[in-house]
Amino acid sequence: MGSDTLTLLSTREIAKMRQAGKLAAELLNHLEAMVKPGVSTLAIDEEAEKWTQKHGAKSAPLGYHGYPKSICTSVNEVICHGIPNAKQILKDGDIINIDVTPIVDGYHGDTSKTFFVGTPSPIAKKLVEVTEECLNRGIAAVKPGGKIGDIGAAIQEYAESQGFSVVRDFVGHGVNRIFHTEPQIPHYGIRGKGKRIRPGMVFTIEPMINEGTWEAIILKDGWTAVTKDRKLSAQFEHTLAVTSEGVQILTLP
Ligand code: MF3
Ligand code: CO
Ligand code: CO
Repeated sequence: MGSDTLTLLSTREIAKMRQAGKLAAELLNHLEAMVKPGVSTLAIDEEAEKWTQKHGAKSAPLGYHGYPKSICTSVNEVICHGIPNAKQILKDGDIINIDVTPIVDGYHGDTSKTFFVGTPSPIAKKLVEVTEECLNRGIAAVKPGGKIGDIGAAIQEYAESQGFSVVRDFVGHGVNRIFHTEPQIPHYGIRGKGKRIRPGMVFTIEPMINEGTWEAIILKDGWTAVTKDRKLSAQFEHTLAVTSEGVQILTLP
């Protein structure tokens, strides 16, 4: 999926990416208010599409390799790429990752968070908190001159120290005018290995952390990835730019 070329972005292009990232973060904040028992994942999708259009943007997922909706809504054992559905009604104790990618003036802002529906179980609360910390530790490992493997090592060490596992089948990715491009960013790995991290690189970090096994299965719809043991999975995602100074988070409101 995506292109094989690793594009380094100019300061001007990074500014465009920040505009898209800001809209993505604002969309996610807007949708968070809808996360309540009794709401369908389709209702969240419809609001996302309406809000995106109102702000002059396009939903990158819609029609992407045939994907049928505007956002991904991944509930409980769904790792990623959950498809919004009228029959899927949120209930107290669920966790839901909402992943949005508006395109603004040709550039993609890709971000996601996992939210609690009502009151979480202790294990759900711990998994979601650990997953957010995994993203933060991954971001802190991004250093110009460092290696891509530094990022996955930081994430894997912390997730496994907390008794959780790291999904292998889906990775972070370069993102610019193209949704998914080089470099790939595994959320597991070995410090000092992989490509060098360079100023001008723009990519996502989006760890998917599981309560049980890291193994994934794709459902018959061809998209929905679930945990093999049907235990919980959580995810957080930011789009980041590497500069000569360090790292900037582009998906902030
Ligand atoms: N936003 C997802 C990501 O983080 C990709 C969704 S692709 C789709 O890379 F087709 F499922 F929408
Ligand atoms: Co992404
Ligand atoms: Co995403």
